Parts: sequence; C-alpha cells; structure tokens
Amino acid sequence: MAVTQVITLNQSEYHHHLTIIPPVSGLSLRGRIQVPGDKSISHRALMLGALAEGETVIHGLLLGEDPRSTASCFQAMGAEISALNSDEVRVGGIGLGKLVEPVDVLNAGNSGTTLRLMLGILAAHPGRFFTVTGDGSLRSRPMSRVVKPLQQMGGEIWGRKDSSLAPLSVRGQTLRPIHYQSPIASAQVKSCILLAGLMVEGKMTVTEPALSRDHSERMLRAFGAEIVIDPETCSATVIGPATLRGQTVVVPGDISSAAFWLVAGAIIPGSDLTIENVGVNPTRTGILEALALMGADITQENPREVAGEPVADLRVRYRQGQGAPLQACTINGDLIPKLIDEVPILAVAATFANGTTIIRDAAELRVKESDRITVMATQLNQMGANITELPDGMEITGGTPLTGTEVDSHTDHRIAMSLAIAALTAKGTTTIHRAEAAAISYPSFVATLKQVVQQ
Ligand code: S3P
Repeated sequence: MAVTQVITLNQSEYHHHLTIIPPVSGLSLRGRIQVPGDKSISHRALMLGALAEGETVIHGLLLGEDPRSTASCFQAMGAEISALNSDEVRVGGIGLGKLVEPVDVLNAGNSGTTLRLMLGILAAHPGRFFTVTGDGSLRSRPMSRVVKPLQQMGGEIWGRKDSSLAPLSVRGQTLRPIHYQSPIASAQVKSCILLAGLMVEGKMTVTEPALSRDHSERMLRAFGAEIVIDPETCSATVIGPATLRGQTVVVPGDISSAAFWLVAGAIIPGSDLTIENVGVNPTRTGILEALALMGADITQENPREVAGEPVADLRVRYRQGQGAPLQACTINGDLIPKLIDEVPILAVAATFANGTTIIRDAAELRVKESDRITVMATQLNQMGANITELPDGMEITGGTPLTGTEVDSHTDHRIAMSLAIAALTAKGTTTIHRAEAAAISYPSFVATLKQVVQQ
C-alpha cells in the first residue's frame, strides 16, 4: 500500500480530518528528521526582540500559529517584524517601555504564553491602555495566576469573573517590585513577572515550588538584563530597570514536538529514527527521563550548545524482545513541570507498557489548551485503552490493543498529534477530527508523518 493511502488529510471549509489506516502488515518509522523550532523560545525571541534596542535576528523560529499571534500583537504595538515565512526573521526593537498603544484589541489566539507573558509587559507601560483577548479556549483559561502578582505590583487590570478571564483590559502603570511566591511551578507566571520587572526600579523576584522551564532567564541574560538565579530556592530575580540589546537567536528544535516521534519510535516495532537538532534544556527533558524509566532505547548524540541552549540529536530505537516494549512507571512531583506538555503523548506510551502507569501532581493539565486529562482519557479509551482519570492525573493500564475509530482533538494541538501516533498502532481506520489544531505548534506534522512511515 502506498504511504499516501495510509495517511490522508481531508480539508473541509473549517476543519481537517486526518485519516490514518496502518497496513495490516505493520509499519515502522525510520530515517532522520528535524522538528520545527521550540515554541517557548520562539515567543520569547519575538518579545525580547521587540523590547530590545536595535535589531534581533531569529533563525529557526517556529512558523506556527502561536508565534504568529505573538508577532501580530507586537506589530500592533510598533515592532517591525519581517514576514514569518523563512528561516530568518528580523525584529526591529523599539526599546523597553516604548510600546505604542494599539488601536485595536490584541488577540493572542490560542496562545497562553503570548497572553500571560504580554500582560506583564503591558502592565508596566505607564499611560497606555490595552485590551487583550484570545480564542474560545484561551478565554476559558485562568489568568488570575498572572493578574494577582501584577496587581500586587500596582498593576491595573480588569476582566470577567473578578479579572480571572480574558478579555482583559490593562491600564499601564509605574509598578513597584515584589517578591512573589508562586503557588504553582509555571514558566508563564515566572516570565510574566520577570518581564514586568525589566521596567521596574529595583529587584523583582519570583520563587516557584519546583523549577519550571528557564528559557526566559537564559534569553534575558543574553539580551543584557541582570538576572540572579537561586537554584536552591527555585528563585529568579531581575534587577531593573534593564536595557535589552538586540541579539542573534538560534532556536533549537522543540523537544515537545520531538516527543511524538520518540514515543512512536519506542512503541512501533522495527523503528529507528533520529531527530536532529533538538533542544535538551534540563528543564524540558522530563520526557527523556520518563521514557528512560519505561525502558525506551533513546540516545543523545552530538551534544552541543547553541546560543545559550543545550542541543542534541535524539535517536530512538524500538527495543526488540519478548512482551511489551515498555514498562509502566510513576510520573509525579518535580518531574511534572519538566514534561507538562508531553503528558498526552506519554499516555499513549503507557498504553504500550507492561503494568499500570500512574501520573499524578499534574492538575495543571486540566487548564491547558483543553482539559488534557479528560480529553486524552476519553479519546484513547474510545480506541480501546484502559485509562482512569484522577483529579490530578491518570492511571493507565497498558497492554490493551488499540482499534481505529473516530476521535476528536478538541482543538488541542498536542491531543491531535498524540492521537495520530496512537492511530499508527491501531487496527483499522482512525479519523481524527479537528486535526488542523496541529498547526499551532507543528504545521508540518502530517508531512513528516508521511516521510517517516515505512512499510
Ligand atoms: C510555557 C510554559 C508551560 C507550557 C506552555 C509553554 C512557556 O506552561 O505548558 O506550553 O512557554 O512558558 P505553564 O508555565 O503555565 O506551566
């Protein structure tokens, strides 16, 4: 059977249905691939580029829907950003505190990172008025986590439900520095506070209960801000006011996108796949730790440092042998922030593990682009998995064969792609509704899927 018959993408006026029919003879994933640029680093490169003095040149920016939302918001506030259509994107910085009041509502689309980080920047722009919103998913996601610390700094923000939901309106103020003890390990909260601190006189500190991704701290330093880190207490401080100078940023491949192929290679017999140029920042490699606990054969090759971020090529090989390719494990505690975006695809891995995998301390998943606990459990169970929801995670008993059926991404990019990997292993036809969501973080996902599938 030709590969194009295995995977078909049907476009209707509004939605795409991705149909996957694996051959009865089975398939394997082989070759060398690259994944698009890291989403978190892409947002930060655009934002810091806009706030810096001089030009920033970004190589390898993720050309997905989420960074496009960030670019259009900052363009509306005066930053000159070249078209997001090539490997090199140029940002003409306008300088800290110099954003122009936009003449319309700023729309962050589906992107929580855009909205939450931007709020910190806007709140610290005295005398200017902004209104921010997003799509249906983003308008239902909690914003108090950033609104509260900003209000403690003297920020003026209003919105629905006691200012906890977008649309939100901001009247920029001269803020005062605080030491914020965040109740959650969230890079979005930490980054929002640090970005506000760039424009505040004094020390702005955020302490989190466990270390979340540190891309903001690394990139702020590279742009010239004074950042103090205390790893013992998981604290980061910015000493303001700062001056940022435009830089060249090289964005590594997104480990959250590589995760789909790592799991696919670990569960599909005969696979041997290398994903080149993946960011392996230790605050992001929880997926490698979890898959190692499960016994997957993944090696890091050619480790190097690129523009302040560790990078490697990741090779995954299906482990031949008797029985299940993976072993069940428990994933909880401080590991969770390091793999928070990878739990949907880890749930797929767990359906192929021997035993019951337990994922806990991950209640944050309920307020991501969708309720990823409920959506993953219901969609994978429809395919034959054995998943029980927990308030803060899931219990997944592996070894139940999957059968193709109709499933739905619930407009969540990571759910769409996790279900596509599950479909490669299922018997019969799987149709994934609203699969276009993948373009949020991985516009070329289906093309790469077709590239790596071999029979
Ligand atoms: C992100 C942080 C994480 C992650 C999100 C991107 C970031 O969210 O889930 O996809 O770029 O800072 P939280 O910080 O809210 O956990």
